Amino acid sequence: MAWLEMPLLIKNGRVITAEKDFYADIYIEKEIIAAIGDKLDFTADKIIDAAGKYVIPGGIDVHTHLDMPYGKIKSSDDFESGTIAAAFGGTTSIIDYATQTRGTRIESALEQWHKKAEGKACVDYGFHMIVTDLSTGGIDSLDTMLNEGVTSFKLFTAYPNSLMVDDETILQVLRFSKEKGALVCVHAEDGIKIEELIKRNLAEGKKEPIYHTLSRPAVTEANAVEHVINLSQKAGAPVYIVHLSSDAGLQKIIEARNRGAHVYAETCPQYLSLSLEDMNKPGFENAKYVFTPPLREKFNLEKLWGGIRNNFIQTIATDHCPFNFKNEKELGLNDFSKIPNGAPGIETRMHLIYDKGVNSGKISLNKWIDLTSTSPAKIFGLYPRKGTIALGSDADIVIWDPEKEFVISAETDHMNVDYSLYEGEKIIGNAEAVISRGEIIIDKNRFTGRKGRGIYLRRDRFSLDS
Ligand code: URP
Ligand code: ZN
Ligand code: ZN
Repeated sequence: MAWLEMPLLIKNGRVITAEKDFYADIYIEKEIIAAIGDKLDFTADKIIDAAGKYVIPGGIDVHTHLDMPYGKIKSSDDFESGTIAAAFGGTTSIIDYATQTRGTRIESALEQWHKKAEGKACVDYGFHMIVTDLSTGGIDSLDTMLNEGVTSFKLFTAYPNSLMVDDETILQVLRFSKEKGALVCVHAEDGIKIEELIKRNLAEGKKEPIYHTLSRPAVTEANAVEHVINLSQKAGAPVYIVHLSSDAGLQKIIEARNRGAHVYAETCPQYLSLSLEDMNKPGFENAKYVFTPPLREKFNLEKLWGGIRNNFIQTIATDHCPFNFKNEKELGLNDFSKIPNGAPGIETRMHLIYDKGVNSGKISLNKWIDLTSTSPAKIFGLYPRKGTIALGSDADIVIWDPEKEFVISAETDHMNVDYSLYEGEKIIGNAEAVISRGEIIIDKNRFTGRKGRGIYLRRDRFSLDS
């Protein structure tokens, strides 16, 4: 019998979903949750005793950049190392951003991303498509994406020299998405204003990493969020703002939702736990915090947690885009604008939100699951196959030890990068076992899965009732 057909029984656990909290046994057969109930008496090849543990749906990280080209280098985790690290952190599905290079066809970007992931990914994966140029295949290519299960597109209002698109392109993709049931995700920063500030700072000799941050003030996020929401309302289409970092941006979302706009927002652990105050390191070390949007003043953290509690922010993803400090971040030693933008995080998302959210009383256990698994699955066309513990759902389950203590360190984590944003941080709560489609892939801090076992997820189209 192949491993995936081997029945598995999880006994005595406390099952937490986005809506429920109850004690039950779970029986898994052929990759699927086949029974949930009290004192289940099935014969299984393996029995896990989850007494004292939480039994939760596998995490879903809907914002990653694995094996992503950046000039002459690439993000340092590929689909193998990145998905193994994800699994250690209790994440069993990711949605990575395939990226169209200007002047090339969208279809060829999808082909490239399939090649990057196939035979390597250790958890299940889907793709969004970053659209940078409609002149090569136009709307027909977007249609092809939908048929391939790529049901969300990302557009940038930042990075004028590489990824930014104009309003006409944004409107075209929004109108297409409204008609066909796709979702437009936007990296919302005012790229033109930021470019001006970067040039001014460099001209004044301000070249240290902190000037990356100071060239991208919160108002540039707020203005872009407002602008993009206005475009989405003009097109009558929903829009999803990725990696929201500031209270100023959040206020634009609150105003828009209060007037009935269909706007969704994602934030990331770094914006909920770090601030400008962390950028006080000696020498060039602040380059570790160079990502976009940048860190904000400390008061923003509580505001974002408030936005989460009041349902103005629906998801927490990582924007995992790691570059090594040595040699890679160091490309910008003499010029902050040359520091590769991005930071690692795929492994620590569930931990940080559990510890800083649940343990500190900011959110409930159900909300933790909703933000990190259920809402991502609903918004991105994976529900109820993923994102919950229910009869017939994929058996993507984490046995979470709420009392296990550990200290985050780049030495011991599994991301292929030489630093951690959270070095030395003590966390209470850890994944004891991680099950992906019925297979135990993490067993007491040991990877027991296989390279290439992850499957491609063809996602359903977006619907407002999802
Ligand atoms: O700095 C970041 N976030 N790099 C990844 C690309 C993006 O903007 O999401
Ligand atoms: Zn972005
Ligand atoms: Zn990103």
